[in-house]
Amino acid sequence: MQRLQKVLAAAGVASRRKAEEYIAEGRVTVNGQVITQMGFQVSPEDEILVDGQPIRREEKVYFLLNKPKRTLSAVSDDRERRTVVDFLQGVDARVFPVGRLDYDTTGLLILTNDGEFANKMMHPSSHLPKTYEVTLEGIITENMVKMMERGIMLDDGRTLPAEVYVTQQSVKKNRTVLLITIFEGRNRQVRRMMEYFHCEVKALNRIGYGFLEIGNLQPGQYRRLRMYEVRKLMQMADDQSAAAENSRR
Ligand code: URA
Repeated sequence: MQRLQKVLAAAGVASRRKAEEYIAEGRVTVNGQVITQMGFQVSPEDEILVDGQPIRREEKVYFLLNKPKRTLSAVSDDRERRTVVDFLQGVDARVFPVGRLDYDTTGLLILTNDGEFANKMMHPSSHLPKTYEVTLEGIITENMVKMMERGIMLDDGRTLPAEVYVTQQSVKKNRTVLLITIFEGRNRQVRRMMEYFHCEVKALNRIGYGFLEIGNLQPGQYRRLRMYEVRKLMQMADDQSAAAENSRR
C-alpha cells in the first residue's frame, strides 16, 4: 500500500505538493469515490482518476547502459542529436538518465522512471563512488596524484579526496592512462580536474558507479538492473548520507 499523493507524483501527474492540492480540491477519485483525506492508502489494483482521467501507473524499471560517444544524456534534443534513450529499443516506460555523462564521455549510465531513486543517487550527500578510466595527453606525476588524493581547488570549490591509480604512462608519447574514483558528481568534474594540470582528456570512460561495474557490456548495449542491485545502491546512498550527517554533529 502507498500514500495516494505519492502514487500521483510517481505517475508524473504533479509534484507531491501539487498532488496534495488536487486531492484537497476533490479532483481525485479512487474506485469511483472522491478522496480528500490526505495520506489515503492505495494498492496497485485500485483505479485512480484525476479530473476523470486514469493515471498511468508505470512499473518502476532500471537499466544500465554503456553510453557510446557522441550521445546526449537527455530524453530528447531540439537539434536532433541522438540521446541515451534511443538505445533502449523496446522499452515503453518513460525513462530518463540518472545524472549525466558529457556528450563524448562513454560508459556506465543508469536510466529509470523512478524519480525518487534518481534523486537519492544524485543527492550531493550520497557520495556514491564513480570510477573513470581517463586517457590523457600529458604526464601525471606522483605529486599530482597526491594532490588529487587530498583535493584540488576548482572554480566551484575544493574537490573531495579522490582515489587515483596511474595504469599506463609513456613520456615518449606524452600519454597517461589513469583510474580515478570520485565521490561527488559536479559538472565536468574529471575533465576540469585534468585541465587543472594542463592535461587534455583524450577519452573518458565511466567503468564503475556505486558497486556496479560496466563489465563486458559493449557501447550501446544495456541490461536491466536486478532488484537487489537497485536496493543495494539505495542502501549505499542512505549509508553515506547518514555517515555525512553524523560527521557534521
Ligand atoms: N566528469 C566529466 O568531466 N565528464 C563526465 O562526463 C563525467 C565526469
